[in-house]
Amino acid sequence: MTDFLVKRDDLRECRIAESGVAELAPGQALLRVDSFGLTANNITYAVFGEAMSYWSFFPADDGWGRVPMWGFAEVEQSEAEGAEPGARLYGYLPPSSHLVVVPADADEHGFVDAAPHRAALPSTYQRYLRTDADPFYRADTEEVQMLLRPLFFTSFLIDDQLADEGLATRGPILISSASSKTAIAAAFLLAQREGVELVGLTSPRSAEFVQGLGIYGRTVTYDRIDSLERGPATFVDIAGDGEVRLAVHSHFGDKLVHSMAVGATHWEDFGASEGELPGPSPIFFFAPDRAVKRSEDWGSATLQTRVADAWHPFCEWTGGWLDVVRGQGFEAVQSAYRDVLEGRVDPKTAHVLSLQ
Ligand SMILES: NC(=O)c1ccc[n+]([C@@H]2O[C@H](COP(=O)([O-])OP(=O)(O)OC[C@H]3O[C@@H](n4cnc5c(N)ncnc54)[C@H](OP(=O)(O)O)[C@@H]3O)[C@@H](O)[C@H]2O)c1
Repeated sequence: MTDFLVKRDDLRECRIAESGVAELAPGQALLRVDSFGLTANNITYAVFGEAMSYWSFFPADDGWGRVPMWGFAEVEQSEAEGAEPGARLYGYLPPSSHLVVVPADADEHGFVDAAPHRAALPSTYQRYLRTDADPFYRADTEEVQMLLRPLFFTSFLIDDQLADEGLATRGPILISSASSKTAIAAAFLLAQREGVELVGLTSPRSAEFVQGLGIYGRTVTYDRIDSLERGPATFVDIAGDGEVRLAVHSHFGDKLVHSMAVGATHWEDFGASEGELPGPSPIFFFAPDRAVKRSEDWGSATLQTRVADAWHPFCEWTGGWLDVVRGQGFEAVQSAYRDVLEGRVDPKTAHVLSLQ
């Protein structure tokens, strides 16, 4: 078994760990991790590894962590009911060759991992979905599913919350890190709503790409935030850059209707300028919490159906610009991980990786 490990207190340091094949106990199953997607979202799992328990999903040696990924796996061996060898699954996976799970609540859609160390963690991350009964699944879009499905789910919930709270049309919606996949998916959905005005805030290197997407009404670089008209506006902060946050809050002040803190892509500048923000306090948007709320409101099957219905047109649209780069083995995973960590990935490209 092979694991890609990251040093918890120095995210730039990585190593490979090899161990013997796991002996399964009754009730366990061994998944072979086929491949997984890697974007800035996974980096924030590492940045908040301690604070939000992301290191707890896939334990590793002392001081090291396995950064959670989304991808596909196959049941290789099983001593558990509801996890037949050969079944192909989508779910939350370690950057490893294998994962031992304890399948529970199995039905035709899949199962949850009831391993005791995962019991207290958010339920959104626990389910393994069988591809043969998954409304999102199409064999020819596996790469896009690995890369964009979890981000699209977040974006669906952002779009839903902004509309639900009457924020979608109370002045423009300013989205930072406008070139990120999460921002793009949110903008794609918001742009379909009547009367929504979208402003993509981005870095100069991503501006042309953002403009070319055709979903933002305007593209404004971070250094030109003060050129925006000062009036009611909503800020959806995906970048998490303290300087950008301060610039938006200082420019709009009390006219800012809502400030939604979604991401920390600019992880080294995340805390900068804290404590001196004019306007409303940023409110952290945590997709698993909003998913629980909408599952209660609508029922989880309806939520899944609504997201899947919105997903397919988005998935098709991304085929027009998304460039998937495949990598295999430790060196490829390490190189892609470091590129994403340092923000060196061109916004139209994304990595799909495999350790074996
Ligand atoms: N709260 C939640 O529940 C939740 C759920 C899902 C995702 N998220 C967050 O959404 C964010 C976006 O994730 P993603 O996977 O969609 O990102 P992505 O597509 O990989 O983002 C790429 C873009 O992020 C910016 N960027 C990337 N690395 C950077 C770095 N080191 N320094 C500065 N800028 C960098 C650049 O955008 P610009 O040039 O446009 O600035 C780049 O084009 C993440 O912070 C993630 O945590 C939050």
